[in-house]
Amino acid sequence: MNPLPINDDIDVIHFGSILEEIQEAIAKEEPEGQVAQYIPELAKVDPAKFGMHLCRLDGESYSIGDSDEKFSLQSITKVLTLTLAISLIGDKVWDRVGVEPSGSAFNSLTLLEVENGKPRNPLINSGALVIADILVSHLSDPKKDFLHFVRKLAGSADIHYNYQVAQSEKDWGYRNAALLNLMKSFGNVDNDIDTVLDLYFHMCSTEMSCAELSRTFLLYANGGKLVDTGERILSRSHTKRVNAIMQTCGFYDEAGEFSFKVGLPGKSGVGGGIVAIHPGQYSVAVWSPRLNRKGNSALGMLALERLTSLSGLSIF
Ligand code: DON
Repeated sequence: MNPLPINDDIDVIHFGSILEEIQEAIAKEEPEGQVAQYIPELAKVDPAKFGMHLCRLDGESYSIGDSDEKFSLQSITKVLTLTLAISLIGDKVWDRVGVEPSGSAFNSLTLLEVENGKPRNPLINSGALVIADILVSHLSDPKKDFLHFVRKLAGSADIHYNYQVAQSEKDWGYRNAALLNLMKSFGNVDNDIDTVLDLYFHMCSTEMSCAELSRTFLLYANGGKLVDTGERILSRSHTKRVNAIMQTCGFYDEAGEFSFKVGLPGKSGVGGGIVAIHPGQYSVAVWSPRLNRKGNSALGMLALERLTSLSGLSIF
């Protein structure tokens, strides 16, 4: 086997040919896993879809497959809601939610009972529900304000909620309701349960294409500043913390595996999307709706593993 290249200069990497190589390799893979079934609207998505888009900080970008088709971001929005909460109340966020990997499923209730209703981190469902509670407390029109914030990060007004997906999740949202009720019994939820759930389900239903998603996450590769306008959204220190949480908690009980194989901070969602960033270099989004047993896109993980192996560029 040829040794992997070791590159410390991004300009010598031909991302265009690497993405083409990934597309060929993915086409040969046996389909593995299933489209998310527990949200009926998501179960309707074509499992064969595959798209990938990489944006460099210098503006170069590369695409393959269905990279302009919108999909449900789901838990990927947990990074955006955390960012908005930090921009509103700063480090007070950490009084309500921890920063440790959970090592358990994204919707698990078990740790919450023994840890007095304080979620392990903001990227599991319980943590994102507490963040949604913070947003309800601090925004005048939370659903509208969140969408406005996301559009600003994306540099596009064409970002929307999918109301059928939000309703579908609400119809089957017993576990998220259980998480909120349990946390409220410990005093870690201030607002009405249905109001918080409604915001959370809408946030999860936000749709973007791979091209829009990778562009949105350039913020985290760019030290917390918007690339187009230079506007600072997060301090450097808060950006470091958000990226660290993506690295350690972005894939639930598969966070170790993702770090091991891909070596970048990232976040997955049950819509089949994964976004990852290389600080100072690029942001990449991939979408393939079939999920592995841990709820992460099976081919998405493989594509990103190939990207960092073929480019020889990861944060480690
Ligand atoms: O609350 C849920 O279960 C979904 N709206 C989001 C879960 C999710 O995306 C987990 N990610 N892998």
